[in-house]
Amino acid sequence: MIRRLAALLALVAAPALASDALRPPLLLTGQRADVQDLSGRWTYSKDYYRTGLTDINGWVAKSRMQRYRDVDVAAEEAKPGTAFFEFDLDRGPAMEIPGAWNAAAPELRWYDGLIWFQRRFDAAPAKPGQRSFLRFEAVNYRAHVYLNGKEVGRHEGGFTPFVLEVTDVLRAQGNRLVVGVDSRHDAQSIPGEITDWDLYGGITRPVKLIQTPATFIDDATLRLTEAGRLVGSLQLNGAQAAGQAVSVQIDALNLKARATTDAHGEARFDIAAPGALKRWSPESPLLYAVRFASDGDAVDDRVGFRTLAVKGSEILLNGKPITLRGVSIHEEELGANPARRLTDSAARALLSEVKTGLNGNYVRLSHYPHSETMLRAADELGLLVWNEIPVYWTVDWDNPAVLLKARRQQAETIYRDRNRAALALWSVGNETPVAENRTRFHAALAATVRELDPSRLISAALLVERQGDTVRIADPLLPHLDVMAVNTYAGWYGDDRLEDLARLKWALPTDKPLLVSEFGADALAGYHDLSAQPKKWSEEFQAAYYRATLAMLGRIPNLRGLSPWVLKDFRSPRREHPIFQNGWNRKGLISETGQRKQAFEVMAEHYKTLPSNR
Ligand code: GCU
Repeated sequence: MIRRLAALLALVAAPALASDALRPPLLLTGQRADVQDLSGRWTYSKDYYRTGLTDINGWVAKSRMQRYRDVDVAAEEAKPGTAFFEFDLDRGPAMEIPGAWNAAAPELRWYDGLIWFQRRFDAAPAKPGQRSFLRFEAVNYRAHVYLNGKEVGRHEGGFTPFVLEVTDVLRAQGNRLVVGVDSRHDAQSIPGEITDWDLYGGITRPVKLIQTPATFIDDATLRLTEAGRLVGSLQLNGAQAAGQAVSVQIDALNLKARATTDAHGEARFDIAAPGALKRWSPESPLLYAVRFASDGDAVDDRVGFRTLAVKGSEILLNGKPITLRGVSIHEEELGANPARRLTDSAARALLSEVKTGLNGNYVRLSHYPHSETMLRAADELGLLVWNEIPVYWTVDWDNPAVLLKARRQQAETIYRDRNRAALALWSVGNETPVAENRTRFHAALAATVRELDPSRLISAALLVERQGDTVRIADPLLPHLDVMAVNTYAGWYGDDRLEDLARLKWALPTDKPLLVSEFGADALAGYHDLSAQPKKWSEEFQAAYYRATLAMLGRIPNLRGLSPWVLKDFRSPRREHPIFQNGWNRKGLISETGQRKQAFEVMAEHYKTLPSNR
């Protein structure tokens, strides 16, 4: 009751902009037929001083530097006259898109600024009345998008999709798509300027050209409720959106439900779940083919149906207590020069280490929304997911524009992932120092989540307080969370020796489930120390750290899940020990090339010995 009251108060205190106003104007979720994938070789042009946007003294950029112009530079140069240019995207260097520029060329390894990308393409033959859209799955960090010389839109945020309509500027042949990508972060960006992960600037996820009928299905959802109902919605966009007959169909359940859109083009479904419906779970990740249709359009999705709740200190999946056996993951594929290019096979390579290698049922996708590919792979493999927006460490807590950015990123993620059964937890932050303005910021985010997606659990990776041998969790954010989560590194950071961990006492509320969202130690794969007191950085020390930490955490009565930091060594500019790190954070249970360290087996063994529902 207290919790609900607190959430209600948070709602009342929520910032002016109502959450449904955060819905992006266009979503184009779901899988549809008329999609052209623009992945491939894109040319690029560096623009370190942003002269393609503005010139010195804030003047308008010189036309000879405006990379987005719809101009064939070589042809212009071949003509007599005085025209000259200081760029040419047709004859520039090229790189594979999607993928971050840091991995594409040595000269770009540490580039942090604006780079212009270009993709020439022909469009599929237009159908009468059709509309055309560009859907970007992610561009890190700001995007300036131009098609055939016209600005069609901008977006801020490195990990969420955005859709721009290009109906009026698309042509049949020779389209010139130019995207200015600015990786620069600042004190008002989300995340801020300093993170413990690499920059990965660029067009890091796929770009698609989507063509739809004049009135189309922009979004459609369906989920199972505790009351055994299938509830959902369908949103049409277009001149004929209101008063339209629409339907949702699941052939495997012999189910077809009809509805009519309201004046805003939205229809709602609320149907009794068929008795034959089998629920999704990690042990049985059953997904149903769902078709949403209107008169003239249809989208498909693969949806699992399950229920999720918190009861006292238990997390219930389909009404039964569950313990989350997981690990934290960054969005970085295996390999020595990752480009943050998460193809389905790259995602499955990582997730199978969790599911099969570690006997896991859960993955914490840190510290930002991962690609939809990763979420869909978790749906298919049967891994529950913690999804996080990068409200990480230091944020300009008092700035309403920054809160709005965070709420928009939260909303963009929710609208993208609402149909993913695997998605269980929304995290509203990571390791943010307790302060009144910070707690208010997070509470507003929690209120946004509760309004936009009441079906999932809210958490945040909190810092613990240390008083002598007592580890305390007393964060004022707790009343806004369904599940407590903390990061702890006693035995790695700080002065504790591993033998001291047995003495630590944990003082925390026991009326809610607790997840330990991070614990970990660095080890360089292949570096061994066989002495009785193995040194830090050795695999033996990391394994001993895991054993001591698991023994300590096992004494917490309401511990309901673990996601040790971290599955795989990952790139970070903060980690520069010349022997052990060289720009890699080495807390991985596996190396960047997938070599398992001794601690991997310690964790796998631990999960294997946990009882099935513990
Ligand atoms: C923090 C933080 C991680 C970081 C880790 C570490 O807990 O959440 O992003 O990488 O510690 O220090 O390795």
